[in-house]
Order: sequence, then C-alpha cells, then structure tokens
Amino acid sequence: MHQEDIFKKLTAHCKEYGFIFQSSEIYDGLSAVYDYGQYGVELKNNIKKYWWDAMVLLNDDIVGLDSAIFMHPAVWKASGHVDAFNDPLIDNKDSRKRYRADTLIEDYMESLNQKVEKEVAKASRRFGEEFDQDMFRKTNKRVLDLNERMETVRKRFVTASENSDLKELRQIIIDCEIADPVSGSRNWTEVRQFNLMFDTKLGSVSEDASTIFLRPETAQGIFVNFLNVQKSGRMKLPFGIAQIGKAFRNEIVARQFIFRMREFEQMEMQYFIRPGEEMQWYAFWKEKRMKWHKALGFDENKYRFHDHDKLAHYANAATDIEFDFPFGFKEVEGIHSRTDYDLGQHQKFCGKKLQYFDNELNKSYVPYVVETSIGLDRMFLTVLAASWKEEKIKKENGQEDERTLLQLPPFLAPVKLAVFPLVKKDGLPEISQKIRNDLRFDFTCQYEEKDSIGRRYRRQDAIGTPYCITVDHQTREDEAVTIRYRDSMEQERVPIVKLREIISEKVNIKKILGSL
Ligand code: GAP
Repeated sequence: MHQEDIFKKLTAHCKEYGFIFQSSEIYDGLSAVYDYGQYGVELKNNIKKYWWDAMVLLNDDIVGLDSAIFMHPAVWKASGHVDAFNDPLIDNKDSRKRYRADTLIEDYMESLNQKVEKEVAKASRRFGEEFDQDMFRKTNKRVLDLNERMETVRKRFVTASENSDLKELRQIIIDCEIADPVSGSRNWTEVRQFNLMFDTKLGSVSEDASTIFLRPETAQGIFVNFLNVQKSGRMKLPFGIAQIGKAFRNEIVARQFIFRMREFEQMEMQYFIRPGEEMQWYAFWKEKRMKWHKALGFDENKYRFHDHDKLAHYANAATDIEFDFPFGFKEVEGIHSRTDYDLGQHQKFCGKKLQYFDNELNKSYVPYVVETSIGLDRMFLTVLAASWKEEKIKKENGQEDERTLLQLPPFLAPVKLAVFPLVKKDGLPEISQKIRNDLRFDFTCQYEEKDSIGRRYRRQDAIGTPYCITVDHQTREDEAVTIRYRDSMEQERVPIVKLREIISEKVNIKKILGSL
C-alpha cells in the first residue's frame, strides 16, 4: 500500500476508534489543534509514564517540575525567543499558499538524496551480489553530480540561515527552481521572518494589561527554577530537572495531523553540568535516549540520528532522533547542548546570580546544560504508526477475513484486558463482570457483551487490547476462562484465580524500565 494511503487510514482510524478528534469539530475544526479521545488519553498517559519513570523514577539525579505556562515576559526576551524564534515565511503568488522557505529547501535537498538512493537501489538490482555499493557511490557520475548539487545547496542554506539572510534564502529557491508542491508555480514573494510565539494580555483592565506569551517550549520554566530546585533539593551537579507540559507555536504550515500542531505537549529534561563536560554528556544522553525509543521493540531501522546543519541560537551541538513515519524520516526528539546560554542570559536580564558553587573545584560558575526534548504528540504518532497493521486472517470456518490492529507494547495499551461472556445469559455476564470488577484495580479492563465474539475481538484489536478473556459455559464448572492473545490470536485455557498474576506480569512496565 502507498505510504500516503497508510497515513490517511491511520488518521481515520484515530477518529473512528476514539484516539484523536479535530478540535472544535462541530464548528469545522481549528487548524492544527487536536483533542485526545477516550483511548487516546489513556495511551498518551501511558507514554508520559514511560518517559517520566525512565527519567525521574530511575535516576537519583533527576527530579521533576511542573511550572506555569504563563511566565514573566522578560523570560522570552532573555531566552532570545522574542528576537530569534522566527521561521522564514514565503508565499506563492499564484496558489496563495504559504510555506516555510527553509522547509522548501530542505525538502528539495531530500529529493536529491532520494534520487541518489534510487540510483543505488537500481544498480544493486542490476549487479546483484557483485554490487560494491561504496565503490558505486564514489564513482558513479550521476550520484557524484547529485551529491555535489546537494552539498552546494546545503552550504548556501547553512550560511543564509546562520546570517538570517532572507534574500539569499529566496535566491536558493529561485536558483533550484523549487516549485509550489501544490500548484507547481514558481511565482514566489519575498521571504519574511515570522515570530512563532502566541501572545495574550495579562490583567483585566486593558490600559494596565501587559502582553505575555504562551510558552513555546517548557524548558524556560526549568531554567528559571534552576536555583529553587538546586537549593531546596540540595542537588549536586550533575543533576537534571524533568517536566511534561503544554507548549504553543503559531506554526506557519501545520500539516501532517498531530506531527506539527499549534498547541502540543513536550517532555523535556535539562541536565545541568560542569562547563567543559558538555560533549561527554551530550554523547551520553544521545545514546540513552535512543535506547529508550528502541526498547519499545519496534523495527530498529525506523530510527536514526540526524545532526543539525543549522544550530538554534542557544546550541553548540544538536541532533534529532528521527522516526520513519509514513511521510518519511522526521524529528521526534531533539538532544541539544545548550551551553550556559539560557542561565547566562537570565542572570543578565534578572540581575541575580544563577550560579552553582562546586565544592570539588572550590569555585562558582554558571552550569552548562544538555537537554533532551521530545514532543509527546509526535511520540504518540510514532507509536501509532509503528503499531498500526492490516492483516488478512482465516476465520474458524476457513473463510478469509481482514483485521486492523494496533500492535502496541502491552504496557502502553489503553485497555489491557477485555472480558466477554460467550452469551448474554446463563449467568455468564455475571461471572464476567465479577472478573472485570476484581481486576479493574490492577489494570484498565473492559466488559463487552454486544455482538459476536469475533466482532468483539476485532474491536479490541483495533484499539490495541493485548488480552481478551471469554467466559463460557464450562467456566461454571472448571472456574477457568479462555485467554486470547491479540498478536498471535492463539487461545489458552487458564484458571480465573491465575488471571491477575498472568496479565500483571505481561503488562508490567517494570520489565521495559529494567532494560534501560
Ligand atoms: N526546548 C527545545 C525545543 O523546544 P524543539 O526541537 O523546537 O526544541 C522539541 O522541540 C520537540 O518538540 C520536537 O522534537 C518535537 O517532537 C516537538 N515539537 C516541536 N514543535 C512541535 C509542533 N509544532 N507540534 C508538535 N510537536 C512539536
């Protein structure tokens, strides 16, 4: 199936099964804002817990925080967001569509890269086992030409971005003959800077009200609380502060469902360290965070690092963990070495010392910071994209059937266990409800009695429930039930008294946390 079709189906699945709805849908929706439905909120909470436990529960040197969304306006002046949190915007005069100039250029470079990979794949098919890929990449004229074009554009792009040279960004678009992806037109406006922060008024009397911003990242709440946490928790460097919370960005182009939203959630951790040790900690957190992603057990080839060509105004090294979404490899998480930029700036703007006294070195300094920053919604999309499947199956009567399932890791599944009476009579519903009521304190359980067992299985497969229990007439005699496994569809007879132990062991987050 075409990747675009998969993505459309995935999006439709999210709505049909109560994972994600367009915000204010009855009023035709609000662009790039989404609501999480009954199963979405459970999955989201489980992802949060996986992150929070991996950061705060497992590390003595990391503590949590929940800072306010509204902050003093000076925070954003100090952090550089008022002056530099901009995206270069360009409009197509014919289609009247608006784009990010940098994204148009990045997509162009990626299209050249795709051409290179196509050439390599073609040659590999042609030469079979004899194929020397390294040699081909080094000598094939077309590959060399494409790489040279890519490198020339990349150099111009990095220089233009670093110098905020908007004229040059436009010139690259013209020189590369980049067309509007929708209309094919090359009739472009000038490039303009567009600040991504939303502002609002604080105070009820309009004359006295001051303009404040909705935070575009949660990180600044951590920076301004650095001393509060360090002193009250008697923390010694290195130590980290972790936070999960909403962030807001007025994205120019907000497409691809929950990949790029205007209101979203971040899970960020700022790790405060000695100056000079940043590269060592940067490497440490890169590896640790990739391990966290891969521990979920999805295809390892779907993850890669992508080092930044263009560094944010606060970073001296930065990489993205990218996931292979149905629309290609894209960023899920950023790992940034932010130096002492943020604390240094806040120290300057607030006029108070934001320093740490290092007993071992017998001196005070502004700590350096390595941050890990992951979008919760993007992580949600990663998990859904990796676990969504359509399968052909055989029914018991031998006929072919299809099912759509979410092969979620059991500890992330919104519902862990569904309990079904085989029929709605003979005391089977009562036994089923008793089982559900006994187990609901241990994990999320559902009771379902409508429709055939097959249909009930399909509904649970579609929301990713890993285990279904059927209570039948024999249960009344042997106090045992049939457990059906989502992925293999195998069934097993187990005593009711053993259910808690069996399911708890399977859905426990401990095993995965222990592997990190
Ligand atoms: N504090 C650093 C920071 O905010 P970022 O790379 O701009 O860095 C971090 O954002 C993560 O937040 C991204 O990797 C992405 O997962 C998520 N994110 C950023 N903008 C987003 C948006 N508009 N919608 C959804 N997630 C977003």
